[in-house]
Amino acid sequence: MPDTPDTDQSEYWRSAQQWVDQQETLDAMMQPVLERLLTEAALAPGVRVLDIGCGTGASTMAAAQVVGPEGHVTGADISGIMLDLARNRTRSAGIANARFLESDAQTYDFGDAAYDTIMSRFGVMFFGDPVAAFANIRKALKPGGTMVFLAWAGLSANPWFAIPRQAAIDVLGAPEPSDPRAPGPMAFQEQDYVAGILRDAGWHNVSIEEIGVELTPPGTVADVAGFATHLGPASRIIDDLGGNDADTQKVKALVATRLADFSSGDVVRVPARLNLIRASGTGA
Ligand SMILES: C[S@@+](CC[C@H](N)C(=O)[O-])C[C@H]1O[C@@H](n2cnc3c(N)ncnc32)[C@H](O)[C@@H]1O
Repeated sequence: MPDTPDTDQSEYWRSAQQWVDQQETLDAMMQPVLERLLTEAALAPGVRVLDIGCGTGASTMAAAQVVGPEGHVTGADISGIMLDLARNRTRSAGIANARFLESDAQTYDFGDAAYDTIMSRFGVMFFGDPVAAFANIRKALKPGGTMVFLAWAGLSANPWFAIPRQAAIDVLGAPEPSDPRAPGPMAFQEQDYVAGILRDAGWHNVSIEEIGVELTPPGTVADVAGFATHLGPASRIIDDLGGNDADTQKVKALVATRLADFSSGDVVRVPARLNLIRASGTGA
């Protein structure tokens, strides 16, 4: 296990106020992803679930309702501010069979063989040492249990990322090239690489399938363009290359023009490609 968790990612997420502020928009957009994850996880009433990188808690709350009062869901996340919102939402919804642990999944002791299912919606691509992280996570799974998670399949297959990124490049120029496997949203785009990580971490029966979903961001094209410009690759390029307000407005206008391909009336629907990854903790 790494003694020192990946500091850049940890710091980013611990202070990710915009993910808290945009929770409703993000959850509305990602609702089809959550539904697909829950379908694939096929949680039975009464089971115990660990939700890694649960953020502001949408998947933890939804899973808690599926497993019912005899079951239990633990949401784990490194970001205290996101978990504060997750706890508040869970309390307000009257959900009593979920709890949240502020924890680095790379190193935290979740207890041996404590969970029937481990799942994640986009919460496991940020580890500095993914093999060590998945070996640590595996200890928490009961024999015969399953892990299922969703990760982005790659930039070019995902206009939600590609359009804002290209718009920012068109306005400000290209950023320094980066390692496609570096911790971040696209780190698990290569299926063979992910399968190798999981096998090296001791997982069995690894299967990875690319699937398609539709993202459902709320609002008009202009609303969605603003959201896509302020969170994600465009905002990183604008920050890194010192863009000003006028640059941001130009990026946003380009994003709106290009997102129009995915709008009909006032509704924006953006196709997305994801890797659906499944593995079991024991070989049988
Ligand atoms: C893209 S967000 C996804 C959040 C949530 N699963 C969702 O779908 O709304 C990634 C999440 O992973 C969490 N995360 C990143 N590194 C982590 C780590 N080492 N241990 C636990 N959580 C981590 C972040 O704090 C963040 O909440």
